[in-house]
Amino acid sequence: MILVTGGCGYIGSHTVVELLSAGNEVLVLDNLSNSKVSVIDRVARIAGRAPRFVKADILDRKALDEVFKAHRIEAVIHFAGLKAVGESVAQPQRYYENNVAGTLVLLDAMAAAGVKQIVFSSSATVYGDPEVVPVSEAAPYRPASPYGRSKRMVEELLFDLYAADPEWRIAVLRYFNPVGAHPSAFIGEDPNGVPNNLMPYVTQVAIGQRPELSIFGDDYPTPDGTGIRDYIHVVDLALGHLAALTALSDAPTCLVANLGTGQGYSVKQVVDAFEKASGQRIPVKITGRRAGDVPCYFADPSYARTRLGWTAQRGLDDICRDAWRWQSWAAAHPEEL
Ligand code: NAD
Ligand code: WQD
Repeated sequence: MILVTGGCGYIGSHTVVELLSAGNEVLVLDNLSNSKVSVIDRVARIAGRAPRFVKADILDRKALDEVFKAHRIEAVIHFAGLKAVGESVAQPQRYYENNVAGTLVLLDAMAAAGVKQIVFSSSATVYGDPEVVPVSEAAPYRPASPYGRSKRMVEELLFDLYAADPEWRIAVLRYFNPVGAHPSAFIGEDPNGVPNNLMPYVTQVAIGQRPELSIFGDDYPTPDGTGIRDYIHVVDLALGHLAALTALSDAPTCLVANLGTGQGYSVKQVVDAFEKASGQRIPVKITGRRAGDVPCYFADPSYARTRLGWTAQRGLDDICRDAWRWQSWAAAHPEEL
């Protein structure tokens, strides 16, 4: 059985679908601080069977011990964490407590139970504003926020753990910009309040919840002046976790892999692609740059290809089509969320 912390969240829920579809037994542990338990039913609708679910916090050692005692867990995929960059600047202790201390408690509970296999959700945010693009895993750490530093700390914790006990099997996955939704439309990104990220903002404008998109700067040194990112379809990202688990099943190791497409798109390109895929017009206005934003980054995904045998298969049109399907379904079925 695979334990998925944060499995009710955006990336976790898509990964649970793929794990179940591939025949795994799955136990989701989530404190529902940024998700809804209804996602379990929607995951079951897609996969044809439900994962088990425990409402618990990764900081709760007793709850974790009970989980490891009650179930034969082979591996943990660890998504649980807080992820809002701006919020992490305002509330650093909360981020270090949840993301770093929470992971420490989880790793202790795993070690006590003899479970030494973990896939960790890290982020390309650990690279900060990279000197060279595409960004390879060898690029130096330059995280620019408490959130990014919490990810770096956990990465280093995992490296030290492996150095101390090489029986561990560890995959650190650095995600670029996860977007899109499951093509069934039953699960997708469902942010609380005003979205921080581009794609959920665009879909909320398209559905009429918000009047227009603010484009944060069109004076960057990029071809159309807007920021360039590596947008990766969340289903491709989910499949990257299955590939990582397979790689870990070979032998003890500690690997670090970028999960991105290798292709960058500007904000304007995303808006154009979304308008085409959805048939909706997205009114935009250009505003000033957002503090902390970098002009351009995208992944060098070659290590994931050779080491994990994984590459992203879905493009920007698939991303926009699936994000729009999800937003449309969610708006029409508020009682199911
Ligand atoms: P999400 O907020 O949708 O999912 C995280 C889940 O973890 C939520 O269901 C939340 O309720 C749960 N959670 C949070 N703290 C918990 C705790 N202490 N105990 C138990 N459950 C807890 O976020 P997501 O976008 O699915 O991200 C998943 C992981 O991937 C996070 O670690 C995030 O930092 C990382 N990541 C996300 C992105 C992105 O842009 N979405 C990019 C890079 C990395
Ligand atoms: C993308 C582009 C914005 C909103 C963040 C985190 C990162 C990672 C992924 C977790 C940029 C522009 C955005 C809007 C806009 N998360 N934009 N108008 O900032 O690349 O990465 O999410 O690990 O850590 O920082 O993603 O979607 O916020 O922005 O013009 O309303 O869209 O300036 O160029 P970002 P994003």
